[in-house]
Amino acid sequence: MFEFEANPNPVPASERAALLENPGFGKLFTDHMAMVRWSDTKGWHDAKVVARGPLSLDPATAVLHYAQEIFEGLKAYRTGDEGTALFRPLENARRFRESAQRMAMPELPDDLFLGSIEALVKADREWIPQIEGGSLYLRPFMFASEVFLGVKPASEYLYLVIASPAGAYFKGGAPAVTIWVSDHYTRAAPGGTGAAKCGGNYASSLVAQAEAIREGCDQVVFLDAVERRWVEELGGMNLFFVFDDGSMVTPPLGGTILPGITRESILTLAREQGITVREEPYAIDQWKADAESGKLVETFACGTAAVVTPVGKVKSRDGEFTIGSGGPGQVTEALKARLTAIQRGQAPDTHGWVHRFG
Ligand code: PLP
Ligand code: COI
Repeated sequence: MFEFEANPNPVPASERAALLENPGFGKLFTDHMAMVRWSDTKGWHDAKVVARGPLSLDPATAVLHYAQEIFEGLKAYRTGDEGTALFRPLENARRFRESAQRMAMPELPDDLFLGSIEALVKADREWIPQIEGGSLYLRPFMFASEVFLGVKPASEYLYLVIASPAGAYFKGGAPAVTIWVSDHYTRAAPGGTGAAKCGGNYASSLVAQAEAIREGCDQVVFLDAVERRWVEELGGMNLFFVFDDGSMVTPPLGGTILPGITRESILTLAREQGITVREEPYAIDQWKADAESGKLVETFACGTAAVVTPVGKVKSRDGEFTIGSGGPGQVTEALKARLTAIQRGQAPDTHGWVHRFG
């Protein structure tokens, strides 16, 4: 399905091996990229894997003006043998179609989504780091490539997948992160684009994320846009709260938060273990009160890039509070271990979540 043109100048194997010892997140890229074009006259066409390189864009390309762009994030893992595995890639394909609908873009069929990823990972499998916690982060994305300044859904789009060897998302693999409560900026309003994975959501989160960094925090947590009271999600992760009676809470999906695939997987794993998990709104004041009374024992963030990351401390203009011991908690660690073992093919895959190929 994908024509393959090998990169004539790939990174030499010895150089690649050195780079893969400490990949960090989002700064190294593989030798190839996948691409497919869409136009209103031809539909999806010209599927290929080619040498990764710069794109040449006319200054009037629609995405540069009106930000009609969506993306996904998923990881490829080496499995013990010579195999490769993806975690729930069809969930990413579905979310990509849903994001496309919201942004008035054409829907990429699931077989092209999966085909593009398999073709790229097969070409660049040697770029999957062998280090502990290492993976190949895949970034499918699509943008309006029509050259036109009128405000309307574009008539041409470019879909691409690039791949980036990844280690921990947070510097130094931080044992627990500190988060900043954004009391001024919100991420998404009802009827807006909060449930879509579009670049614009991230663009508008950056000023709040920058504020978080200035305040000595790792990430920002957003409250709902209507009452400024309910905890929604972080700039790039969903949240779970763990209580002293063993139950858990996560904010409900209601169109203003991203329906995380990690979130859904954790819900399934936790419930299967007999943990009661409520998908219900949780107020910022309650979070503080419960942390201080000891009723709340753990909080963790989850997402593809950050996997499962404990939240140790929460800061806001009104002060700060610590969760549990301020470090990783038992429930968080157990769920993380269980999830990552399944993702890496080290534990039985009873839900058909692991897509092996290669
Ligand atoms: N929320 C936001 C805003 C995100 O960017 C992400 C990352 O993709 C998530 C949540 C977690 O989603 P997933 O678990 O599908 O990676
Ligand atoms: C992901 O987890 O895939 C994301 O898109 C989040 C981003 C912060 C890298």
